[in-house]
Amino acid sequence: MKKEEYKQAVEKLNLWAYHYYVLDDPITTDEEYDKLYKQVQEYERARPEDVVKDSPTQRVGDVISKGFTKAKHLSRMWSLEDIFNAQELQKWLEKVYRLDKNITFYCEPKYDGASLNLIYDNGELQQGITRGDGTVGELITENVKTIRSIPLRIEHKELIEIRGEVVIFKDEFEKINQERLKNVEPPFANPRNAAAGSLRQLDPSITAKRNLVFLPYGVGVNRLPQKLLSDKMDAIYKLGFRKPPLRAITKGYDEIEAIYEQMKEERDSYAMMLDGMVVKVNEIAAQIDMGYTVKVPRWAVAYKFPAVEKITRVKDIILQVGRTGVVTPVAVVEPTEIEGAVVERATLHNFDEIERMDIRIGDKVIILRSGDVIPKIVKVLVHERSGDEVKIEPPKECPVCGSELLHEDVLIKCQNLKCEARVVNSIIYFASKQCLNIEGLGNKIVEQLFNAGLVKSVLDLFALRLEKLLALEGFQEKKAKNLLQAIESAKGCELWRFINALGIEHIGEVASKMIAEAFGINYLHVTKEALVAIDGIGEEMAESYLEFMRVNKETVVKLQEILEPVAPQKREEAKENPFKGKTIVLTGTMSEPRPVIKERLETLGAKVSGSVSKKTDYVIYGEDAGSKYDKAVSLGVKTVSEDEMRAMLT
Ligand code: IVH
Repeated sequence: MKKEEYKQAVEKLNLWAYHYYVLDDPITTDEEYDKLYKQVQEYERARPEDVVKDSPTQRVGDVISKGFTKAKHLSRMWSLEDIFNAQELQKWLEKVYRLDKNITFYCEPKYDGASLNLIYDNGELQQGITRGDGTVGELITENVKTIRSIPLRIEHKELIEIRGEVVIFKDEFEKINQERLKNVEPPFANPRNAAAGSLRQLDPSITAKRNLVFLPYGVGVNRLPQKLLSDKMDAIYKLGFRKPPLRAITKGYDEIEAIYEQMKEERDSYAMMLDGMVVKVNEIAAQIDMGYTVKVPRWAVAYKFPAVEKITRVKDIILQVGRTGVVTPVAVVEPTEIEGAVVERATLHNFDEIERMDIRIGDKVIILRSGDVIPKIVKVLVHERSGDEVKIEPPKECPVCGSELLHEDVLIKCQNLKCEARVVNSIIYFASKQCLNIEGLGNKIVEQLFNAGLVKSVLDLFALRLEKLLALEGFQEKKAKNLLQAIESAKGCELWRFINALGIEHIGEVASKMIAEAFGINYLHVTKEALVAIDGIGEEMAESYLEFMRVNKETVVKLQEILEPVAPQKREEAKENPFKGKTIVLTGTMSEPRPVIKERLETLGAKVSGSVSKKTDYVIYGEDAGSKYDKAVSLGVKTVSEDEMRAMLT
């Protein structure tokens, strides 16, 4: 790659990332992106003096800071006055109209996250500062650079402060909490806490993993010429920032109310959490005339949505049994209306959580709901206890089938494979999005099919007939035909979907993809050694996979015959090189992420494995290599440093 080509490649990557992270409209595949990214990385390694500041490689935070230093905002970051109803809006409007009857209003969401000030000068991102007390915040530039919706370089050369909210999308929030629960860490109470916590990590690589998103809402110091806030914001979006899901310029009370209602209605469908709508005077000159109180601008208000947190009482704690047999406690609460929906249940995750929060039946609690976020208990009002509250003990028997439960760390499991709850939920899982993606086969329908005796296992799905379906309640011809068609079109699915759909414990989407990639259609005939040789697959996963295949072989074969899953295509044969056909283990910290090096070795025809054995040809080590290196030495396996590896390749 020549210098010019390198610069073009960086621009291309940034354009692709802009389409992906800002416009939500990808114009290339992940594969193409990764390929070019790697080329850019290689060039930069060879010529570090050429690295440009806005190269996407400059976003990976690898410097851990000891603590944050304070930094001053160039101009103050204000708060907002809250209003809660139409009368309060009226009152505020009256005050505004005292200045000028022709004022218009810019309305946009009030995002629920953490506020952030970005300082750009000379077109380059110089600093990212948390709000702090409004005058001084914490300098978190390294963390901020990992946020992909924040451009490192903008086409505006003058000094400018761009303000906005850092949020975590609702689906990402659920994922992070699942992950935290798995690692026996307390889940975040809401996306706001998760965003704020992720932003203030001393290790930016943690921030990078959280998929934070920046949504701009205003400017501080700036020399933008526009006279209307809406035009200034348009200019900001044009510089490469995300637009809000809904915004409007409104004339007066009726229009503001209308857009408020619309936003309130639609907000469940937005990716991020909102807690209200901000109404701002659109004319900058009028904003200046109105000025500020000690805390808030007089020219803007936050028109809050009805609370998402409400107080209710825990009536009962019931137990749900999932497809893997895990028993999850669920709180039944006094029905409480939250933004139009009646909440009757809240998740409790596991018995450790009940213990940690000391939730008892009869307790008054605060619950939180928003959009797709499953309602959850965020606080127990301990001071309101009467003394009649009842503690609950972890169960000993399955609430559905009665068989004895196994206690495994924080998890409690029903071991009975025929347990009705497990069967129904595994069929639901089989058909779900990340598995065979069979449309129209959700919870309700699966339960109906199961209760009617039509489907007792996933195999039965493929024996469903039109007449049988038509006999069921609510099944007209069209619905029945659509369902059969959807089931039919699962045939010829990708192999990883097939493996994932089997619902093998510890084998999720990622592992299924790795297994499909490594073994193709021979996925059934694999050994433990071959499995653990895949980087990312450990002993426990391998054992779970093999045990499942041993016990369920017959069913798996039958399913395979019906579904005929398609294996991914193999790589092209590599040219001769010292690593071709060799089994290699990588260990220690390398100059590039290990998956990148792994991928390169694999293109060279090497097999990169996760654990060292006698069959290993080379252990390639980086800094701070530990037990794998020691094991290689003790087994007499050849060890090669990263530099030596590079030398062997040239
Ligand atoms: S404007 C000069 N607009 O809410 C006005 N703030 O309660 C300053 N927020 O600290 C704020 N969405 O972090 C504004 N569209 C929006 C917002 C927004 C969320 C946050 C912001 C601010 C807090 C004030």
